[in-house]
Amino acid sequence: MITPVITIDGPVASGKGTVARKVAQALGFHLLDSGAIYRAHAIACLSRNLDFNEINVLEEQAKALSLRFEGEKIWLDGADATDTVRSEAAGMAASTLSAIPEVRAALLQRQRDFAEAPGLVADGRDMGTIVFPNAPLKIYLTTTAEVRAGRRAGQVAAQRLAALEEDTAKGLIEKGNSPIITGLLETLRAQVQNEVEAQIRQRDSQDKSRAVAPLKPALDAIVIDNALHRPTQTVDAVLALWKLRAARL
Ligand code: DC
Repeated sequence: MITPVITIDGPVASGKGTVARKVAQALGFHLLDSGAIYRAHAIACLSRNLDFNEINVLEEQAKALSLRFEGEKIWLDGADATDTVRSEAAGMAASTLSAIPEVRAALLQRQRDFAEAPGLVADGRDMGTIVFPNAPLKIYLTTTAEVRAGRRAGQVAAQRLAALEEDTAKGLIEKGNSPIITGLLETLRAQVQNEVEAQIRQRDSQDKSRAVAPLKPALDAIVIDNALHRPTQTVDAVLALWKLRAARL
């Protein structure tokens, strides 16, 4: 029997990672975060100071990528690289390198190998169009760049607050959940909103305009505007759609 695959594609910060993880948990399926593979490749290239114009070298690095997923942890070249791989710099470099057809081709089979019984939920940009074109259920999650930036800005603001000078951070944390923390977070969030929105627009434009495997919904994908629902509602909708599809497999 062919392993069933649910694909969840969409732009940066569309919430596809969260939805994919929850759907996989609910069904007991494996999970493929394909963006993490492209990010890990980008980090491997950056840490080796590889020239982004040397296509053959970038392709060889993609073939030789030493990468292992262990729950939420990502091991690259034998070391825990979870935080580095999740950084915005890794996302941006991955967006650039993933436009190279040779790099994509070198990483293709590695992604397909995730399809194992009892099933797989795969999230990314081209899961429904290229990697798993025969998947019985394809979802495309999206919403406006402004809404996506609003969500991401909250996370960035919290990271920046945590990274403040140790004494300052300690003093603030001792005040607990005081209005000072809330006010500071809101100020930081407003400051980073424009910055984050510009990054998101740039990444959207790179991912959509590349010649090979551009970000777009598969013709048979169901498009969901993830801003109209709470994440749990989107997860429930995907699970309900899967129940209908699975009954006909
Ligand atoms: O989903 P993400 O933000 O982790 O992905 C990082 C970059 O990797 C994204 O901007 C484009 C690239 N990517 C891709 O080209 N194809 C995929 N299936 C997943 C990610």
